[in-house]
Amino acid sequence: MSLAQEILELKRSQRAVVLAHNYQSPEIQDLADYVGDSLGLSQQAAATDAEVIAFCGVHFMGETAKILCPQKIVVLPDAAAGCSLSDSCPADKLAAYLDEHRERNFYVVAYINCSAAVKALCDVICTSGNAQRIVSRIPRDREILFIPDRNLGSWILESDPTRLMTLWPGGCHVHERFTPAAIQRAAAQHPATKILVHPECDAAVRALGDIVCSTEKMIAYCRDSEAKEFILVTEPAMLHRMRSEVPGKTFFAAPTDDAPCSECEYMKYNTLEKLRDCLRDLSPQITLTEDLRARAETPVRRMLEWSQL
Ligand code: 13P
Ligand code: SF4
Repeated sequence: MSLAQEILELKRSQRAVVLAHNYQSPEIQDLADYVGDSLGLSQQAAATDAEVIAFCGVHFMGETAKILCPQKIVVLPDAAAGCSLSDSCPADKLAAYLDEHRERNFYVVAYINCSAAVKALCDVICTSGNAQRIVSRIPRDREILFIPDRNLGSWILESDPTRLMTLWPGGCHVHERFTPAAIQRAAAQHPATKILVHPECDAAVRALGDIVCSTEKMIAYCRDSEAKEFILVTEPAMLHRMRSEVPGKTFFAAPTDDAPCSECEYMKYNTLEKLRDCLRDLSPQITLTEDLRARAETPVRRMLEWSQL
């Protein structure tokens, strides 16, 4: 039996669903039941009736699935698949900061790229697909603390500059590698292309984009656009879905100053072999204490509710 056949057979016998982020390798995406952005993945996790969720992404994504589905087994192909952005805001530092600034009565908004322990300290979660909508629901007289991504936070502020918002100084090393000079060089080689930028990039790079949006919205934009060529300023695995779902158009991964693209090494920890093994062994699993899970669930549920309104 091929590895792919083994995985399909294990999915059936374990009553498992495979959820994969858009940055997973093409062979994993091709075997997944659902491929999408962080918002779509959390909605899928909340809705599935499978008994096992095999989460092909990074650790905080698996945790989010477990927060929403405590009765289900959530496995990751590689438990070491972390996230530099999540690591830039440890729960103890956030707790100390909130304690020190108690008088400011922050409304804490967390980008979903953070640990369950951090989510448990927050009022609401957002993703790059719903960030503006979520922030628009917060009473205007409350000062917002936005964690952990200063770039996503500053993007929200660009669309609503009068918001009172303090930004946590965190970032994603994959998106912060892009520079205006590298993007301008790529644009000069393909003058008719549209440039799509992920909001985790810094403001000078975002300013070069025809659109700034989540990975999922990038697909809709390219499908609906009359343009024929696109530069994607994000992780290069995005090219796989673009090429299969938007045929007849040409896509380029954006370069950095010293590399042809910017890969997320953590996303690539997952392999087909590890996916097969986690489905077979039901390990490694995400486990959370019920107290932590329940505290983290409140802001995640609030996000799901607000993103439907
Ligand atoms: P989205 O897919 O939600 O846009 O997020 C990108 C990302 O960096 C996930 O880690
Ligand atoms: Fe984290 Fe950045 Fe990798 Fe996304 S691309 S998982 S934010 S390190």
